[in-house]
Amino acid sequence: MSLAQFFHYQNGQLHCEDVALATLAKQVGTPCYVYSKNAIRENFQSFRSAFERVDPLICYAVKANSNLSILRLLKEEGSGFDVVSGGELFRLMKIGADPNRVIFSGVGKTVDELKMALEMSVLSLNVESVEELETLISLSREMGVFPDISLRVNPDVESPTHPYISTGLREHKFGIDLDRIEHITALLKETQSVRLTGLGFHIGSQILDVQPFMDAFTILLKVAGELEAEGFKIEHLDLGGGIGIPYQDEDEPDLSVYADLLAEHQGDRRILFEPGRYIVGNTGVLVSTVLYRKAANEKTFLIVDGAMNDLIRPSLYQAYHEIRPLHQKSEDSMVVDVVGPVCETGDFFARDRRLPPLDPGDLLAVMNAGAYGFVAASNYNTRPRAPEVWVDRDHFEVIRERESLEDCIRGEG
Ligand code: LLP
Repeated sequence: MSLAQFFHYQNGQLHCEDVALATLAKQVGTPCYVYSKNAIRENFQSFRSAFERVDPLICYAVKANSNLSILRLLKEEGSGFDVVSGGELFRLMKIGADPNRVIFSGVGKTVDELKMALEMSVLSLNVESVEELETLISLSREMGVFPDISLRVNPDVESPTHPYISTGLREHKFGIDLDRIEHITALLKETQSVRLTGLGFHIGSQILDVQPFMDAFTILLKVAGELEAEGFKIEHLDLGGGIGIPYQDEDEPDLSVYADLLAEHQGDRRILFEPGRYIVGNTGVLVSTVLYRKAANEKTFLIVDGAMNDLIRPSLYQAYHEIRPLHQKSEDSMVVDVVGPVCETGDFFARDRRLPPLDPGDLLAVMNAGAYGFVAASNYNTRPRAPEVWVDRDHFEVIRERESLEDCIRGEG
């Protein structure tokens, strides 16, 4: 997988596939999200081939980028889906996804959401607590259904990532503590209302080292063995998402050692994955126009028309995103803060970044914005959300229109 292939300079102009981003931006306006359709396909295929030996069911994590066109594309590629809300399930209904390839995860499913998943009869409901299991059991009884469930285990494994997106430690709200499994199995033995078919974990996101996944897998195997000794049949192991991508110059994770371990121990169990970022992270950019180059006492600010409401990752996780000018310039010559118009000091895309000289009217791309970009956009400061566009070779298509100001106030009295 090479980002260079899909976003590259040609005659000094940054292209997405065969489309010059500046040409696209002229027609669509800025800020706008642009995705490479073929990069999404290629990432999906590369994930599949990395784990080919274990023949997994890949359930794309809808939360990473839930645009209907992207979901349809992944469905065509043979992907299943992982959702965490009724809203995401609704999207899957809209694209006619096969419920038998859908996992419903999440720590706080409401009764209505559980009902929706039960009516659809999804492949697995990933249960995250004793309390949720109790609700699910009574709901299943009421509805006269007999759903397959999986337990999301909290393996208490540390993962090297930002603390806000690390989820596999005991202190985190996610998953079932290992010492509560016994309680759960007692409940499961008593009930005839749900069927335990799987175990899973999701230890966090943007993890570039495979060791924590392998540690968690080893723990999961142990739990599976214990449950099987008690008479449960664990048909699948859901290894979550979380595999990271390089944003700066980090090495890509070595998936082959992980795949080896899985192949050695999977037995007749099916492996499930829930990748999000790996599939779409490097396939999108956020294009913005420079409004001002503001000289201040301590700093130079490049004020652009995109902002934290469009892409919140730098503000929320101090995440690094490469920034490239749309028109290639010879030298990096200025050190600037790239900031948006939102009234918060935390509204920035980059700080103290060395960039080529950029002037008002110039365009730039915030790279690797395909995952957790548009999906986390808001109308803060009553800023309409940016459009989403995708490129397929030499043509592009708007796959979500820019919001209007009327859209922003819809439903208000
Ligand atoms: N499965 C579950 C249960 C999850 O909670 C997540 C992500 C995934 C799968 C997909 O993880 P991925 O493969 O994309 O790492 N907004 C943050 C990331 C939040 C991740 C939340 N859960 C960011 O921008 O970095």
